[in-house]
Amino acid sequence: MLWTLSSNERLVYMNKNLRSAVIAGNWKMNKTPDEATALINEIKPLVADAGCKVIVGVPFIDIPAALEATKGSNIAVSAQNCYWKESGAFTGEVSAKMLKTMGVEYCILGHSERRTYFGDTDATVNQRTLGAIEAGLTAIVCVGETLSQREQGITNELVAMQTKIALGGVSAEQLSQIIIAYEPVWAIGTGKTATAEQANEVCAVIRATLAEIYGREAADGVTIQYGGSMNAGNAEELLAQPDVDGGLIGGASLKAPDFAKIVEAASK
Ligand code: 13P
Repeated sequence: MLWTLSSNERLVYMNKNLRSAVIAGNWKMNKTPDEATALINEIKPLVADAGCKVIVGVPFIDIPAALEATKGSNIAVSAQNCYWKESGAFTGEVSAKMLKTMGVEYCILGHSERRTYFGDTDATVNQRTLGAIEAGLTAIVCVGETLSQREQGITNELVAMQTKIALGGVSAEQLSQIIIAYEPVWAIGTGKTATAEQANEVCAVIRATLAEIYGREAADGVTIQYGGSMNAGNAEELLAQPDVDGGLIGGASLKAPDFAKIVEAASK
């Protein structure tokens, strides 16, 4: 198959000349603004010399505190969702433009928790992605299979399809505003991590899918992260894979020393 790599192609560090390594914390629904400030202040000195991009993905209400706490540092701020219309009668939503106006640079989109609990679909993830890049944000688009989908043997097709639909209407020039996060649903918050080989195989499928649409050179420039129980102990092996360009970190991003260890692993 197009995306199957032979075993001797695997243990090669990602090519940082082609794309940048990105470690992003997804704090999910955790931390008040004061707690966010405290956690960022703890993280800041630990990652000051990072050789990769460092992002904290915080709840909407923490954004002003996070922007203030990260000012002048090498840490960027991400939201965890956005709506594609600029403004209007959309109770409870926050637009990409509002986030951009505040100084937010990134937005996590299509996380499996949003797909599972809040009705996000491939189609709405596509709309949110287009809205985010139109507003000038970089979208961190999440894709990934459930355990039953993996057991059915449809992981590669499913993830390729999620990627294609999410990026519908995204031009080659706009690809610089896209990061893809491969997050197997069965590995999120479960302590069950995909093996480095599994993570790399699916990240390579995503890259092959991007190459199909945009060409190999453009696909080689896109950062593809792995997420799902990545922690201080397993990050180095996962990040050593040639197609794993970073991590989207849940639980471990709430502990400054653990998050810093992952950043350190990505900086090698
Ligand atoms: P955990 O790292 O807690 O498994 O969460 C991963 C995740 O969902 C990041 O978006």
